[in-house]
Amino acid sequence: MSAGITLRLETLHKEFRVSGTPVHAVDGIDLEIAAGSSVAIVGPSGCGKSTLLGLLGGLELPTQGQVWLGEIELSALREAKRAALRRGSIGFVFQSYDLLPFLTASENIDFQLALAGQANGDGRSRELIERLGLTEHAQKLPDQLSGGQRQRVGIARALVHQPALILGDEPTGELDSESSAAAMDLLLEAQSAIGATLVVVTHDLDIATRLERIVSLRDGRVVGDRSGELAGSRVGA
Ligand SMILES: Nc1ncnc2c1ncn2[C@@H]1O[C@H](COP(=O)(O)OP(=O)(O)O)[C@@H](O)[C@H]1O
Ligand SMILES: [Mg+2]
Repeated sequence: MSAGITLRLETLHKEFRVSGTPVHAVDGIDLEIAAGSSVAIVGPSGCGKSTLLGLLGGLELPTQGQVWLGEIELSALREAKRAALRRGSIGFVFQSYDLLPFLTASENIDFQLALAGQANGDGRSRELIERLGLTEHAQKLPDQLSGGQRQRVGIARALVHQPALILGDEPTGELDSESSAAAMDLLLEAQSAIGATLVVVTHDLDIATRLERIVSLRDGRVVGDRSGELAGSRVGA
């Protein structure tokens, strides 16, 4: 339904003030991510990965520089417009899943469809529930699920509205290596079916190398940019 979107970061900075002292979480990043490609963002804890992802998804605004999603300057939009863009065009998978506690697993997924203005999603909700091994858990509330099950609900929710951009912050951090590989299979399969652009923050090199490109951060800057295993395996890549 949606095609992938090109991301462009121009001299991007994000500074936080912690008791008067500036922290340069993102310290001058220039990066272009091609539409429909998959990129891993890696680097040590505190190097700015989550901050960068928040800027890419318009959850936060930069203190300097610009974030472009295709022809739209995301960083110039007001919150209401950024929120509308997030609902319709972006799928987030966070480490903390942030499921709504009073909705069942399946209602959490359907709620994302409703937010995106897609009434029934052509049965994709049920299909994702099956694919992610959640059928027996679909009617449970988040606090009746394990961490790994909640994460899989979070992954289904991020994919169900077929977003142009999928953003993951340690999307498989709570899963054992087998479930983690299966969840990555699904993310990559959904990405390629939708033609979405996929950006995944991870400290797991087994995950990172499965994508087309690996960007390394340190102290809020890009210090490495190399190809992963998927590079060149796709038409036009
Ligand atoms: N809301 C915030 N307020 C103050 N400092 C923050 C905030 N968010 C992140 N930081 C700081 O910015 C730096 C980068 O953090 P983060 O993006 O979370 O790194 P990572 O995800 O790579 O671990 C860290 O020094 C962190 O303490
Ligand atoms: Mg982080």
